[in-house]
Amino acid sequence: EQIYIGVDLGGTAVKVGICNAEGKLLQTYEGPTEVAKGTDTVLANIEKYVRQIVEDSPYSWDQLAGVGAGVAGFTDLKEGVVILAPNVGFRDVPVRAILEERLGKPIKIDNDANVAALGEAWGGAGKGVDDCVCYTLGTGVGGGIIVRGKIYQGFSGLAGELGHMSVVPDLEAIQCGCGKMGCLETVSSATGIIRMAKDAVERGDRTSLAQVENIMAKDVFDAAKNGDEVAERIVNRAAFYLGKSMAAVAAVLNPQRFIIGGGVSKAGDILFDEIRSVYAKFAPEPLQRGVEIVPATLGNDAGIVGAAGLFLRS
Ligand code: BGC
Ligand code: NA
Ligand code: ZN
Repeated sequence: EQIYIGVDLGGTAVKVGICNAEGKLLQTYEGPTEVAKGTDTVLANIEKYVRQIVEDSPYSWDQLAGVGAGVAGFTDLKEGVVILAPNVGFRDVPVRAILEERLGKPIKIDNDANVAALGEAWGGAGKGVDDCVCYTLGTGVGGGIIVRGKIYQGFSGLAGELGHMSVVPDLEAIQCGCGKMGCLETVSSATGIIRMAKDAVERGDRTSLAQVENIMAKDVFDAAKNGDEVAERIVNRAAFYLGKSMAAVAAVLNPQRFIIGGGVSKAGDILFDEIRSVYAKFAPEPLQRGVEIVPATLGNDAGIVGAAGLFLRS
């Protein structure tokens, strides 16, 4: 029996999973990315986690037929090179060649959000829908555009970098990890939400978050659910730019469904209700008909399954 491994390389964690030839996820393993230690360490970590999961499994290394990796960055699909990964610290890193060398197995790479979108399209919230747009809200904001059941890649494979749409107006814009100003990622990622919360605490705003030691995005959502007005304002701001960007995307692509995944999407109704109402405010009425904004359903595993799927579905 042959197995395939999917790798989801994010700014915080590297998630790996073993899939069988039918694409069924059998086992997962996760370790820290360790971005601060540099590119070589991150690549060594991927190798370590892949070897570890096989060791922990009932399968042998020989049964491993290929490793697919979704990487959190602008990725040149033809060359297998990650051009810029703001949250992973990669700049022009030939990830495919390096992993081939380290693991001695066939490697396929793609953008993390693109593969998560494929995972959702095949077996998650996009099942049966030909045209959908996925957002992933985590350390960064990722995107995957599915047109007629396939990822839309654009001229050089970089389409769907939804987190780097510049949406925040000049006076309020801050610099993004990509180097530019006002990107959606600066306000709607976990990182952005945490930054806004810390800023509020530092400014001396009256908020229960001042009591939280190491503020996480979840703390902000919990505080908002408990009626903390400062936290509510932050959540609404994150939702506002998401909803507004969706209205713009709808005008360009007319997708049937927007699917939102990633850790931040676990916030649930408090986030989704606001996104839907902002979308309704900005999207022309015809672009609202039959259009849904829904949470991803594969949860944390979409990226792994989609990455392994690079071998199984091509
Ligand atoms: C990167 C994307 C990635 C997203 C989510 C962004 O900063 O540019 O390529 O998909 O983060 O990880
Ligand atoms: Na993408
Ligand atoms: Zn950016």
